[in-house]
Amino acid sequence: MLVTNKELLLAAKRGAYAVGAFNIQNLESLLAVVEAAVEEKSPVIVAVTPSAIKYGGLRYLTSLVKTAAENVPVPMSLHLDHGEDVETVQKCLEAGFTSVMIDGSHLPFEENIALTRRVVELAHPRGVSVEGELGRLAGVEEKTVEEREKVLTDPDEAGEFVRRTGVDALAVSIGTSHGAYKFKGEPKLDFERLKLIREKVDVPLVLHGASSVPQWIIEKATKYGAELTGAKGIPEDHIRRAIMLGITKINIDTDLRLAFTATVREVLANQPKEFDPRKILGPAKEAMKEVVKAKMRLFGSSGKA
Ligand code: G3H
Ligand code: 13P
Ligand code: ZN
Repeated sequence: MLVTNKELLLAAKRGAYAVGAFNIQNLESLLAVVEAAVEEKSPVIVAVTPSAIKYGGLRYLTSLVKTAAENVPVPMSLHLDHGEDVETVQKCLEAGFTSVMIDGSHLPFEENIALTRRVVELAHPRGVSVEGELGRLAGVEEKTVEEREKVLTDPDEAGEFVRRTGVDALAVSIGTSHGAYKFKGEPKLDFERLKLIREKVDVPLVLHGASSVPQWIIEKATKYGAELTGAKGIPEDHIRRAIMLGITKINIDTDLRLAFTATVREVLANQPKEFDPRKILGPAKEAMKEVVKAKMRLFGSSGKA
């Protein structure tokens, strides 16, 4: 069944676990996420970005997710990830999304509030939940203290942002970034800042850029020709700590992409005569599914559906 993020995340907050938001772009990635959720008996957020919509088509992707939701026994939401403008949000609301993110994190504070407030006014009457973002997801490792302050979420501003916008969830910046190259040196998140944000904000908190970039996947991809030197993600113990400190939604895209690509490379290298797409994409889907299942166990959402 399709439910809202608000419903999933309030349950997670009460239960001190996190729900994974997994990015999908096609049938294989959706099957991987849905099959994992069913096998783990886990609630799940299916996340779709504007560029995934451009790739797969809004109607096609929405129909696939709705069909999945009608046929599985776990609660699932269909979420717009990094919505960039009101028009995209409108289209997703009309298509039946149960949750939308409006990402005004690149805007000045007041403009971010105004845009996010507008989306809340559109979404809430339809019963759709809204995620806002404050702070930018840029690598902060080599920045000065002043530069870091400009990028990371300010706890006082976070409290004001949530009060004035009415968002149901807030994405925060504590040192993560998108993609496979998150740190040059030792991975480091600003947990003190997360504690302060938690004190000021009572809606569920969201961690973007949370992929761990598992070394075994990097090794497999590299073995079959990928060039991923320096790829590094968020260690799993950092994820556990973030959940203990109040993160209840965790976004994962990169780890699924890596698992998919490593397996496609492996199959093509080991079976040069193979040209049936199902024999290539099937194992890649299974690899993504195993990653999603491992995340659900790490986040503590397994068995919660
Ligand atoms: O933040 C989400 C993604 O990792 C970026 O996804 O390439 O579909 O925009 P995209
Ligand atoms: P990763 O690139 O770390 O997987 O983050 C994905 C994300 O934040 C999607 O919104
Ligand atoms: Zn993100």
